Amino acid sequence: MARPMRLLTVLALAVLLAACAGNPPRAGLYEQFGGQAGVEALVEEFLVRLLEDERINAQFAETDLVNLNDRLVEQFCVELGGPCTYTGREMAESHAGLGITEADFNALVEGLVDAMDARGIPRAAQNRLLARLAPMHGDIVSP
Ligand code: HEM
Repeated sequence: MARPMRLLTVLALAVLLAACAGNPPRAGLYEQFGGQAGVEALVEEFLVRLLEDERINAQFAETDLVNLNDRLVEQFCVELGGPCTYTGREMAESHAGLGITEADFNALVEGLVDAMDARGIPRAAQNRLLARLAPMHGDIVSP
């Protein structure tokens, strides 16, 4: 599927599935991502794309990237049902005042989808992670 269409489809699906976000993650989801090593490799692929993306990389110029990497690994692990604890700040707090737009959010999701494709994660499993991240949108995008 062409990339823009794929992104639209993914976002629409994520919004539809977001209603399920309060539920525990589906059993086996963490394993489909390759467990701890898989999550670490995914976050690395994701951050490479994010920092190469000229639409949004300026936003990370002052960011402690080691901390961002470690918090994302924890957060994705938790959202996938893995045996982790998220030790970072709430999404509203860490993104407050950054002026993040809808287009920024979509660009970041695109990078994550590309990273999951590169890791060979099945589409259904990808959509489950996206559905768990989608409800964070309201806390991340500036009003
Ligand atoms: C679903 C989407 C997103 C998720 C799950 C997410 C997750 C996170 C996490 C876990 C942190 C670390 C919090 C901490 O240090 O305690 C963080 C920080 C940050 N995020 Fe996001 N984020 C998302 C979207 C975005 C977008 C779209 C942008 C901008 C293009 C962005 C820019 C930043 C920046 C600049 C920081 C560092 C803030 C600081 O150092 O004070 N994030 N994000």
